[in-house]
Amino acid sequence: MNILIIGSGGREHALAWKMSRSPLVDTIWSAPGSVAMDQIGPCFDVAVNDMENLEKLALQLAPDLIVIGPEAPLALGIADQLRARGFDVFGPNKEPARLEASKGFAKDLMTRLDVPTAAYGRFTQADQAKAFLRTLSAPYVLKADGLAAGKGVVILPTLKEAETEIENMLSGKFGAASTELVIEEFMTGEEASIFVLTDGVNRITLPSCQDHKRLLDHDEGPNTGGMGAYCPAPVMTEALLAEVDETITAPVLDELNHAGHPYQGVLYIGLMITSEGPKVVEFNVRFGDPECQVLMAAMPDDIVPALLACATGGMPERDFRALLPAVNQTRPAVTVVMAARGYPGSYEKGAVIRNTETAGEIEGVTLFHAGAGTNDAGELIAAGGRVLTVTAVGVTLKQAMERAYSAVDVIDWPEGIYRRDIAWRALARQ
Ligand code: AMP
Ligand code: GLY
Repeated sequence: MNILIIGSGGREHALAWKMSRSPLVDTIWSAPGSVAMDQIGPCFDVAVNDMENLEKLALQLAPDLIVIGPEAPLALGIADQLRARGFDVFGPNKEPARLEASKGFAKDLMTRLDVPTAAYGRFTQADQAKAFLRTLSAPYVLKADGLAAGKGVVILPTLKEAETEIENMLSGKFGAASTELVIEEFMTGEEASIFVLTDGVNRITLPSCQDHKRLLDHDEGPNTGGMGAYCPAPVMTEALLAEVDETITAPVLDELNHAGHPYQGVLYIGLMITSEGPKVVEFNVRFGDPECQVLMAAMPDDIVPALLACATGGMPERDFRALLPAVNQTRPAVTVVMAARGYPGSYEKGAVIRNTETAGEIEGVTLFHAGAGTNDAGELIAAGGRVLTVTAVGVTLKQAMERAYSAVDVIDWPEGIYRRDIAWRALARQ
């Protein structure tokens, strides 16, 4: 079979790499893809939100499966558009994609279903938002309702700063995404990322992951898109996973299904494990980046039958679960993000990165490229904020971490920055 994947990041490189190892797959096409994805299969220069040309490309290529990587095209309705043309699409339609595209929608849905999450209010007027803020205690969590490229959450220590930020957000700091705000109670605890593959009715929960959102070691510095991840995350015990399935995953998927909007793709549940139990921080409607990289490197099964079953739907439950027979034997894996100095602020592009091939030869190591390109001399260069995701599997988590860092150490890129402590919470437990 032939597969078209939409996206160009480390997440999509990992998905393309994993799918290319399936005996079922002949060709993997990417749009727009990347230098690294071009080595897996042909890339087509169509942007992820260019709906018209994505549809044209799909009609021209006639893939057997279309996998959508990022949230932006899902929020625009690319899955509906391609399904209407008869394609099997891995990724939810526009209505269920509102779980990520509107934080207010997600919060209201959780409230209706009694899904545990932080107390909140939705606001379009500054005076009402400020009045609600004064009923909460510090720190204050302000969120743009809409998609803001992962930057729409602001956490502030004082009432004064939070009041100023309310004004900034409502007057267009994040454009149309922040014409409405969600203000939330601050939750404390350890975070985890849960990924559920579903056809809208059946579901399989993948090994739990933990991301590292802050830029610097010891979880300091600004929030980023994620500086590293590992799986499985020991904070997610069997009992907690069962609780999440019962109190979060099942009610949300059932509600969408009964409303006539079955969710077909991967549901990302961002969790805070509080003293009162697991609570939802956010939903996303796609794989996490860099969580996807550890999952794809570590999961022993062929992922293609499961992605295809989510896209086509209608499989009996027993058969659906049997699609990933070894999912519980997933090896530990760690991924370290190497970013351009200055990220998540402004950074320079063009620095040459050397020795990635040597790094990739270390046992257990796979390099997934995010914002990496090539220069006229054909050398690998930094071309984005997060540039490389250096991923390793091991017999133990410690071994996976050591392998990932020995690869990082081999890579010659003086302008690159990375955290040295990915997986520290899990290792501290041992
Ligand atoms: P999000 O973009 O919704 O994932 O938020 C980014 C990060 O902000 C999360 O990973 C959490 O670390 C933090 N965060 C979001 N909402 C809350 C909350 N209600 N309480 C505490 N931390 C939060
Ligand atoms: N790693 C967090 C995200 O993908 O949103």
